Amino acid sequence: MIRFIDQMDLDGKRVFLRVDFNVPLNEKLEITDDNRIKAALPTIINALDGGAKVVVASHLGRPKGEKRPEFSLAPVAERLALLLEKRVQMAPDCIGKDVENMVNALQPGQILMLENLRFYKGETENDPEFAQALARLCDAYVNDAFAVSHRAHASVVGVPERVKECGAGFLMKNEITYFEKAMKDPERPFLAILGGAKVSSKLGAIENILPKVDSLIIGGAMANTFLLAKGFDVGKSLVEKDLVDTAKDIIEKAEQSKTNLLLPIDVVVAEELAPDVVYEVVSVEQVPSDMIIVDIGPRTVDLFVQEIKQAKTIVWNGPMGAFEIEPFDKGTKEIARAVGSSAALSIIGGGDTGAAVKKAGESDNVSYISTGGGAFLTLLEGKELPGLKALEKCSGL
Ligand code: 3PG
Repeated sequence: MIRFIDQMDLDGKRVFLRVDFNVPLNEKLEITDDNRIKAALPTIINALDGGAKVVVASHLGRPKGEKRPEFSLAPVAERLALLLEKRVQMAPDCIGKDVENMVNALQPGQILMLENLRFYKGETENDPEFAQALARLCDAYVNDAFAVSHRAHASVVGVPERVKECGAGFLMKNEITYFEKAMKDPERPFLAILGGAKVSSKLGAIENILPKVDSLIIGGAMANTFLLAKGFDVGKSLVEKDLVDTAKDIIEKAEQSKTNLLLPIDVVVAEELAPDVVYEVVSVEQVPSDMIIVDIGPRTVDLFVQEIKQAKTIVWNGPMGAFEIEPFDKGTKEIARAVGSSAALSIIGGGDTGAAVKKAGESDNVSYISTGGGAFLTLLEGKELPGLKALEKCSGL
């Protein structure tokens, strides 16, 4: 069992709060989406109100063990201060004597942000010395970084191994609660929608989810491999030829288990994957040999929307087309609108799908948008998250 922050006494303690503030920045190093920061606020506020001396730790991007200023968490500390309406001190590093002194000078209710954990290779390598240097900064550990909890990194698994008191934050609790609501005892019909570029990256998820759902929609470029498996010509579209047999197996398994597997029946094809190119809608039997499939077509949208309307539980991960290029975002937007209009419990896997739902203006109309991309997919694959496992071991409950 995992202990949650509201079951911990943090009064007067130095609390290492692992968050995932890996937010997108533009070339001016301005934050373009602060959802992940906002999502961790309830946990931070709870710790501060509980009299903790809060040490916030995160990674940002992949600086690969180098101290590169463009990966500094300083803009994030500024945004956090703005959102909390409170001073947030910024440490010059994440380990070392200076940082220890800053942490030890904190008063209850004060907050300090460490510099990017990935400025050290020890973070991603879960190096014991690095983990110990982080553990020295705290008396208690709280993990609210769902989005990185699939990584067995030092701040995710190494620190909780070295701290007596550990627990999870409210964001983590929300993520687990919504996911379990959908997967453990779903109200039926249960529909999964999977999209994105590659079957290979979703294969584990398809195999785990297929026996659990009543219907499975497959869209995005990964549908091309399934169309090829069904004998359709997909032109110059992205396909994984080595997975055609696997796709055939999945189609067969769906038939055997009477799972309704829905694939595109018409598609948008373009000369290339770029804006302002010639495109047209064709049925899947008529994909021209020199064109690329870039989105689902209108008849497919209707087919998928009918299925969405009937569902009582919906889990969605991956866009239906090249949604970053207009007008090839149309199919994904229509699906987002249908999911948003549905009264079903709807859980959206993070990353691209969350961004697509936001772009369609449907964020407030779905039940939950996960903050995790890879972590959400790991759960869909039915695998344990190392970050959660570490908390189970540590809490001793
Ligand atoms: C994410 O954005 O998915 C997490 O922050 C993990 O980042 P990573 O893929 O660089 O480990």
